[in-house]
Amino acid sequence: SGTLRLAAEASTMEQTFYVTTPIYYVNAEPHLGHAYTTIVADFLARWHRLDGHRTYFLTGTDEHGEKVYQAAAAAGTDAQTFTDRISERFRGAWQRLDVSNDDFIRTTEPRHTEVVRQVLQRLHDAGDIYSAEYEGLYSVGQERFVTDKELVDGKLPEDAAPPERRRETNYFFRMEKYQPWLIEHLERNPGFIRPAAYRREVLGMLREPLGDLSISRPRGRVPWGIPLPWDEGHVTYVWFDALINYASALGYPDGDLYRRFWTSARHLIGKDILKAHAVFWPTMLKAAGSPLYHSLIVGGYLFGHDGRKMSKSLGNAMDPFEMAQRFGPDALRYYLLRAVPYGHDGNVGAAALTERYNADLANDLGNLVSRTRTLIVKHLGARLEAPQQTAADQPVIAAGTGLLPAVRGLVHDLKFNAALEEMLQYVRSLNRYFNDQEPWRLAREPAARARLATVLYNVVEGVRVAAALLTPAMPVKTQEIRAALGLGPATFADLEQWGRTAAGTVLPETAPALFPRVDTRAGAAPAAKAKAKPKPQPKTRQGGAVANEETAGTTGEDTIGIDQFARVKLRAAEVVGAERVPKTDKLLKLRLRLGDAERTVVSGIAEHYAPEDLVGRKLVVVANLKPAKLRGIMSQGMILAAEDEEGRLALVELPRGFPSGTTVR
Ligand code: ME8
Ligand code: MG
Repeated sequence: SGTLRLAAEASTMEQTFYVTTPIYYVNAEPHLGHAYTTIVADFLARWHRLDGHRTYFLTGTDEHGEKVYQAAAAAGTDAQTFTDRISERFRGAWQRLDVSNDDFIRTTEPRHTEVVRQVLQRLHDAGDIYSAEYEGLYSVGQERFVTDKELVDGKLPEDAAPPERRRETNYFFRMEKYQPWLIEHLERNPGFIRPAAYRREVLGMLREPLGDLSISRPRGRVPWGIPLPWDEGHVTYVWFDALINYASALGYPDGDLYRRFWTSARHLIGKDILKAHAVFWPTMLKAAGSPLYHSLIVGGYLFGHDGRKMSKSLGNAMDPFEMAQRFGPDALRYYLLRAVPYGHDGNVGAAALTERYNADLANDLGNLVSRTRTLIVKHLGARLEAPQQTAADQPVIAAGTGLLPAVRGLVHDLKFNAALEEMLQYVRSLNRYFNDQEPWRLAREPAARARLATVLYNVVEGVRVAAALLTPAMPVKTQEIRAALGLGPATFADLEQWGRTAAGTVLPETAPALFPRVDTRAGAAPAAKAKAKPKPQPKTRQGGAVANEETAGTTGEDTIGIDQFARVKLRAAEVVGAERVPKTDKLLKLRLRLGDAERTVVSGIAEHYAPEDLVGRKLVVVANLKPAKLRGIMSQGMILAAEDEEGRLALVELPRGFPSGTTVR
């Protein structure tokens, strides 16, 4: 068995794993949907690294195309300066979330644009590109032509604006020519697209004739793109450009990284960009004469609080920086992986995150580590002793050594939420073991010293296993756990053996609190106790079930969840100007400053406050109230005031020195 193990290890050592995220458009700031895909990719990259595979993890930004060009124009900046800035925001977001990418590619870099021109030239030389007049409806939001069938009320459901009619001369890639080959490829390779529902969706698309793919735009209309090598009057269609990043970043066609990693490429994507990855990309590669190795791992949508796909253009997106600030990056990562069964759509939000955090991380995991530590420091002089195992210890030992293979299977099946649940089940079983063995009682009996040391040793070993497996989800917190227990760096290599922690290991005298409980806040329902009726499960276009994490924690009729309250954005506002609205008795027109921004609010307080008395005060304003016209004036918000039974009014005020724009909650 010694030789067998060596052989098995040698073969895993040689396994490679190349994982990519979509390269995100730099038209707007990163939001939680982008963070979700990137976190899943980071989870996989870290998992495979710990599991002994040579791993390469690529992310980046998609910087050409009409959408980005228009966003730069709207911001009044030239496109390169604009993309530099937003690309940096994505880079910063991934740093903030402890994402361990090996490279970050930008499609405006020469290492990329040169490869795109090479691939174009190759397809052109092979006779796979022709020029033709085209007319159709184009969605700038999705950067693709759309069909009438896809439109609801004249636009795509995921877009804010209707598509535009375009009639122009484009170059076309003979994509349809490769349709029979692609169908065969899908049929021969069931693992090419996972989960399987998305493979079926693509096979469904392929029952209709594909048509050819428009791959250029006249430079006169879209000047922001890679010029075609044979006709500088046209730039490359942004999707044709963007997909090539996965190869250009590795040094296609003959770079070392390309040779080493291309054969194990896994593209992680959202279902919105399935067709580009499942149809455009493989046919492009085929036409370029490159063998096909990659496979697709497809995720569903996170919904915003309005039940629609979270997106910047719909204005319903959550800010990953803000979430990381509130809960810590590890808790956010854990929550996103745990909340939504991968491949499905899901509702996510701060209320469910709070509840999950308090239950799994503060109670189950954090508490176990802290009470174990306390007893070891207090009763064993902070030093682990060699265990003397008994029958009572066998269940946690067996479950501990069996955890890696069980969880590995789930991870390979893309069941990340179930994998984390399995790990937490094990943590809960360690808590039960701790409670059953009553080490605090053993500590009071001198004769039970050896037994006390054994129980505490076993809990530390169990935590070692759980913390290693939780590392891909929570790289920083698990490191703190290991440090608190005197353990070395994480590895999966020794998880199937119990007793790898040396007797004599010394724990540090002090350790920081791991997961301080997050307050559900005064007035909010006690989230952990509230039981909610599950919402009816909305169906998505792809028919996937929706994970209803966010319904947890809302109670009966008269209370609201913390997430509902959080939707009301309250801000400190300084009154910088006030005047009566002509021909009214009650209305004042206030000019309010919120940080850098100013806005006008019309308020019915003229009978209670003189305009000159208001300037300089710090009020509280509902900042995200839908603007409304009052007496011809657009009022952008509402200030808070209390009114007693005699009709006396008091404004809700903050100290004058308090910075304007600050969030009130
Ligand atoms: O499509 N829920 O970029 P993009 C879950 N540049 N995931 C979401 C999401 C949501 N609400 N919103 C976005 C592009 N995503 C192209 C890609 S690749 C060669 C070019 C994630 O900025 C999800 O992974 O619109 C989705 O596929 C991706 O962000 C789209 O990001
Ligand atoms: Mg998009």
